[in-house]
Amino acid sequence: MGLFRVVYHSRNRLKLETNALADHVANILSVSAARNCDAGVTGGLIYHHTWFIQVLEGEREAVIRKLERISQDPRHTEIAVMDASVVETRRFSSWWMAGAGWQEKEAGLFLPVVGAAGFDPRDLTAGGLIDLVERVVHHRAPSQGRTAWTTRSATTAA
Ligand SMILES: Cc1cc2nc3c(=O)[nH]c(=O)nc-3n(C[C@H](O)[C@H](O)[C@H](O)COP(=O)(O)O)c2cc1C
Repeated sequence: MGLFRVVYHSRNRLKLETNALADHVANILSVSAARNCDAGVTGGLIYHHTWFIQVLEGEREAVIRKLERISQDPRHTEIAVMDASVVETRRFSSWWMAGAGWQEKEAGLFLPVVGAAGFDPRDLTAGGLIDLVERVVHHRAPSQGRTAWTTRSATTAA
């Protein structure tokens, strides 16, 4: 089976304060984990008041269909696909869809990737975006327990 990975950034259109935004995205992630499981898609999503960055990986057709559906979602806009490539292995094989929001106290997590100037995904390469999502998701997941959005994928996801 050919594996495919896509990374995009988009503008968040949800005009919500921090806690309400976290609740809303938790809901997106819980739906996503269930849907992605059905489609064999894994990945990570990080969010901020202004931005979403998402990595989707899985069988090519499944990833493209998923991206098409997500692109039509009015909760974000200006979807910019930074890379779409055939890959050898998954980098998010533990999560149907993991997620984490930007928090000031964890700014240090983002710093090595985004630099001191601030968080703007347009400044990053596709590889930098994927590294950032992976770094944040891996850091957060162990402390999140069994919440819906960290629903772990089967170890057999390949
Ligand atoms: C930033 C963002 C990321 C999303 N990621 C996923 C995802 O990984 N998988 C998914 O099934 N839905 C995802 N969704 C939600 C879909 O756009 C859609 O609402 C959901 O799949 C339900 O689709 P349906 O109305 O066709 O049933 C995401 C939405 C947003 C705004």
